[in-house]
Amino acid sequence: MALYSEKVMEHFKNPQNMGKIEGADGVGKVGNVICGDVMYIYIKVKDNVIEDIKFETFGCAAAIATSSMMTELAKGKTLDEAEKITRDDVANELGGLPPLKVHCSNLAADALHDAIKDYRSKSK
Ligand code: FES
Repeated sequence: MALYSEKVMEHFKNPQNMGKIEGADGVGKVGNVICGDVMYIYIKVKDNVIEDIKFETFGCAAAIATSSMMTELAKGKTLDEAEKITRDDVANELGGLPPLKVHCSNLAADALHDAIKDYRSKSK
């Protein structure tokens, strides 16, 4: 069952930046309306740059792999750059996802954007 690309399996088996940031500057939360799973993204921001980012994902392999990939893409980026990371960027970086799993893979970019929004609303 070669459903997932090697890159997806790699991130699923060895996820990067998994966990929670206590006292995060921004927290994003999205739910998958289809399966009911939930993902949290925590960011630490300094001088407009995402210094640290972690995720907690209560979801499937695709959701975990995309969260891990997304945190790698977002870490060290400015908020403006990170905001431009799209659902497709994350999926493409992973070598694509099976069509059935696209809704799961969308969570990561959405949660990142939500965390940035949360940070901006707090720092006004
Ligand atoms: Fe729930 Fe994929 S099945 S996130």
